[in-house]
Amino acid sequence: MRIIYLDNCATTRVDDEVVDAMLPFLREDFGNPSSPHLLGKRARRAVDAATESVAQLIGADPESLVFTSGATESNNLALLGMFGHDERSPVNAAVCPTDHKSSLSIGRALADRGLDVATMRVGPDGRVDLGHLAGLLDPFSRVATAAWVNSEIGTVQPVARMAALCHDAGALLHVDGAQAAGRIPIDVREADVDTMSVSAHKVHGPKGVGALYVRPEIRHRLRPVLFGGGQYALRSGTIPTHLVVGMGKACELALAGLTAGWQRVRALRATALDLLVAGFPGVRVNGDPDGGVPHVLNVVLPGVRGESLVSSLRSVALSTGSACNSGSQEPSYVLTAIGVPAEDANSSVRICLDPRMSTEDLVLGVELVLERARALADVAVAMHGHHVPHDVPHDVPHGVPHRVPEPLV
Ligand SMILES: Cc1ncc(COP(=O)(O)O)c(C=O)c1O
Repeated sequence: MRIIYLDNCATTRVDDEVVDAMLPFLREDFGNPSSPHLLGKRARRAVDAATESVAQLIGADPESLVFTSGATESNNLALLGMFGHDERSPVNAAVCPTDHKSSLSIGRALADRGLDVATMRVGPDGRVDLGHLAGLLDPFSRVATAAWVNSEIGTVQPVARMAALCHDAGALLHVDGAQAAGRIPIDVREADVDTMSVSAHKVHGPKGVGALYVRPEIRHRLRPVLFGGGQYALRSGTIPTHLVVGMGKACELALAGLTAGWQRVRALRATALDLLVAGFPGVRVNGDPDGGVPHVLNVVLPGVRGESLVSSLRSVALSTGSACNSGSQEPSYVLTAIGVPAEDANSSVRICLDPRMSTEDLVLGVELVLERARALADVAVAMHGHHVPHDVPHDVPHGVPHRVPEPLV
């Protein structure tokens, strides 16, 4: 059965060119890149070339990258590596409440150790309140962390301004770039971020590989969390050549397609929104109506349980939010943090687009979603005897329906 895939924030299909680039390193070129012989040297050359491609995608020097198993490990390496084991309050960190669990749970682990961990304030658009962040920072602040692009609502954080605030206070800024690299232009040097995580499987690369960018000037402020052969000083473990090569190819393709991809996804988003607004009463958009990325479209379908909708569709794959939260009975903590009422949060679904998707598939997918949503809404009416109200005013002005992000320049 063909499945129309509208869940490209959870993961993406590995590109055929990526698979082709990887295969020789699983077969004839299987050498360990740390080995001194010819096979090792060939693997090392491939790793170096891939490092160059990843670095180019984010505006970094290749020497400032460390390969890891993905953004989760990169977040752990950065955020745990900035603290000594015996450090306690008043040493502190600040986390963003809409971030992926891989950052928030590290924050909780640090708090369990006895460090002070503060939570930033975000607005209804999901953007960090910079004045509030400035107030959280003090001479004991070690690091603040935020995702450049939010995985549930697509909000883009003002990371350059956050970095400046952190540096003024003597703190570092860690950025989770898992949803940003390959989707928006990134220049880590220009934004002046200190560390940034990236992940290959979000941009048509393989799962199980990512990287951490470390600004060379702050390298001495980080210590490893894994010890071993010292393949990279910060991260030991045999370098998985095939995965790294796959990541490099995926980053190369992502960089080449960045501008055209943005335009294409803007058009797909406009199509999806038109269909949704015309096809279901009271559809609203969650998140930032002005500055989010086009590929994340999080909408309220009033009166429909998002979980029921997502799990009852067989030929369309979409989700109610981050893959690691799905299945939870609680409303999305991301939507809750930006002030979406619980009823709307429970009626929200996330559609994540990709430039390679055909318009025909998108239209068919959204129509199937709408058909099922209308059926579920009818069931709700039959059970409760009334339509769930769509037009209740909210304190939080979320849901401006129809704006599409500006062209990428
Ligand atoms: C913002 C963000 N951070 C981190 C991750 C985890 O990435 P990985 O699967 O590479 O560990 C994800 C995706 O699941 C994500 O969307």
